Amino acid sequence: MSVPRLSSLQCAWLQEIGLDKRMLAHFLVEAAPFPDTPAAVASSATGRAEPAAVDQAAPVPAAEGLQAAPVAAAMASLGMGVAAKSRTPAADTQLPVDKRPARGPMPHDEIALRHYMSDCQDCALNTARSKVVFGGGHVESPDWMVIGEAPGNRDDREGLPFQGKAGQLLQAMLAAIGIRQDAPVFFTNIVKCRPLGNRPPTADEIAACKPYLMRQIEIIQPARILVLGRLAAQVVLGRDDAFDALRGHIHQLHTEQGRDIPVVASYHPASLLMRPQHKIDAWHDLNLAKQLV
Ligand code: URA
Repeated sequence: MSVPRLSSLQCAWLQEIGLDKRMLAHFLVEAAPFPDTPAAVASSATGRAEPAAVDQAAPVPAAEGLQAAPVAAAMASLGMGVAAKSRTPAADTQLPVDKRPARGPMPHDEIALRHYMSDCQDCALNTARSKVVFGGGHVESPDWMVIGEAPGNRDDREGLPFQGKAGQLLQAMLAAIGIRQDAPVFFTNIVKCRPLGNRPPTADEIAACKPYLMRQIEIIQPARILVLGRLAAQVVLGRDDAFDALRGHIHQLHTEQGRDIPVVASYHPASLLMRPQHKIDAWHDLNLAKQLV
């Protein structure tokens, strides 16, 4: 009888939700599908800066075993394998001032939108940011768009989302439902600039940035959306409900272009690092998301 195989990321998530090593020993664990990129190695070596919620968290033993390469690795792998369909150049978002287009109407094209957003001053977050974090991954009709809250310190420096420990856990969560690191996924946030001190974005900041997110959805045309955390769920679904009313269901996002995009909300990985007791509910949400495929 053949032994079922798990990737190391799937294994990491199963350990996160409580399966112990003896149970997992019945499976063949494959090596990580992608070698660590410099970004991934640096992230595990430096104990990166994270959103405040994670910084303040007591050490979470289950997370210590988590060695999945963060989203950066997935994006790097995309850059190698399917370059034509992916664009993650952080430099893209930081054009020299003399190259920036005059600020007219918001473009309907992905590259033009990146450039347009690169010098955004629509809210006060522009004064303290290093880089606008547009997002990264597949930009042409990806299977999934994963939407978080706001960039953290490291994301702000690197110009890419989910570069820290939350990103590592996110990769394990996705792998657990069969979304490999080289799968067509686009990662972004409801707010594209880091709030100082990694506080949650304010209502004004969210309102200023929401049109950019909606334009990204229009341009990128994801088949499905996974929103992470209460704020992101409320913004994308346009509802003020409590998080528990939003997660655990399949919603539809009706776009202005007449498309209905299925949306599933789940816990933000940074909050799961702080409150591991929610991992089982997150597992239910992830399986709901899997049903969409
Ligand atoms: N990094 C991101 O890009 N988004 C989050 O929500 C948290 C960390």
